[in-house]
Amino acid sequence: MADQTSNQMWGGRFAAGPDAIMEAINASIGFDQRLAAQDIAGSRAHAAMLAATGIISDSDAEAIREGLLTILSEIEGGTFSFSTALEDIHMNVEARLKELIGEPAGRLHTARSRNDQVATDFKLWVREQLDAAESGLLALIRVLLAQAEAGADWVMPGFTHLQTAQPVTWGHHMMAYVEMFGRDLSRVRDARARMNECPLGAAALAGTSFPIDREMTARALGFDRPAANSLDAVSDRDFALEFLSVASISAMHLSRLAEELVIWSSAQFRFVTLSDRFSTGSSIMPQKKNPDAAELIRAKVGRIFGANAALMMVMKGLPLAYSKDMQEDKEQVFDAADNWMLALAAMEGMVRDMTANREALAAAAGSGFSTATDLADWLVRVPGLPFREAHHVTGALVAMAERQGCDLPELSLEDMQSVHPGITADVYTVLGVENSVNSRMSYGGTAPARVREQIERWKGIVG
Ligand code: ARG
Repeated sequence: MADQTSNQMWGGRFAAGPDAIMEAINASIGFDQRLAAQDIAGSRAHAAMLAATGIISDSDAEAIREGLLTILSEIEGGTFSFSTALEDIHMNVEARLKELIGEPAGRLHTARSRNDQVATDFKLWVREQLDAAESGLLALIRVLLAQAEAGADWVMPGFTHLQTAQPVTWGHHMMAYVEMFGRDLSRVRDARARMNECPLGAAALAGTSFPIDREMTARALGFDRPAANSLDAVSDRDFALEFLSVASISAMHLSRLAEELVIWSSAQFRFVTLSDRFSTGSSIMPQKKNPDAAELIRAKVGRIFGANAALMMVMKGLPLAYSKDMQEDKEQVFDAADNWMLALAAMEGMVRDMTANREALAAAAGSGFSTATDLADWLVRVPGLPFREAHHVTGALVAMAERQGCDLPELSLEDMQSVHPGITADVYTVLGVENSVNSRMSYGGTAPARVREQIERWKGIVG
């Protein structure tokens, strides 16, 4: 007979309770209480199924249902007292159920194990986070579309190596991020569809001898079907890893945009002005307005990707089926989810509130010989030079402009003809940035007409 101090849920064969250190390393209640609502939903579905299949009586199922609802309101109301001795959310709930309804509580765990229970709870939780991420991504895409629409034909420099490359439009640049967050959205939807199989009823690892109805519990919890292999069902954490990898890629996109906002809002660029609501001041330098939200978003990719790497490490050496290592999945996912949602919301706010400085963008667009490629293309199209020679002639013209301290449109026709006699006054039509962007009419190009097509396409997708 177990003594008084052994665990009340599994202490049958134990003569003594755990060492305090054992309890500290073993308990997950400090964090897995976040799974309370999912745990209770899972238990309610399980109890209803046990009654429908005649495994427990209807009256026991009803008592369990009432008790679980009471526990949910205690937890939501903050009056539930969580116990470390009871290890985790599953046993905390069940022990309280016993206090509330007595003997029928002991029948709830029939044909179930904490292994299928935790896999089910955690999947339900991750599924909700995928839904939240979908909303967050949609909201972010919509504010990017609004920015793109407002400045579909505003010219700005496009960069490679962060060196002026060719003029592009503000709308085109915003729409590049719409494509990225759109891919994140589709990855979220893929992951959600793939994860939506219910582990409940896999029991400890081998299934159960009770005549359970796994279709019924799967349906009740909004899953598409029960997971087909009990060993896999209790030992699979792919859904958490997919969540973390989707979150990592999305956080990387958020970080790239954040990096651009940090650069663009600097006094040297002045491409955008961030709103007061999404900036901070300095306690010593009164003139400062810092893009802290962007910097923090840029940093969050580190912890989100760290969570992904950490869980990959946890999983990679585990034999089938459940091992306690898997308890380490939750804190990583919780932290990554919280920070991904926060970063999405902060980026949405920043993009919604920011003002693009049309004049500063236009001034920068025309500097740095940004239309050199247009000049080379003109030399191919009009006097018919091979592109390599056109490239060389243009390079000589850029060097000449650099010597004269001017930009390409300011070079005189005589000077240009001294480099290549085939150049005519018509060349000036391609040296302006507006002409440059208007000419980029290839599919996916930066011409405002093309950008507006893409804005319309995306509006059709995200509403
Ligand atoms: N707290 C545990 C976890 O999060 C629940 C499953 C425990 N299962 C077990 N066989 N000890 O993984």
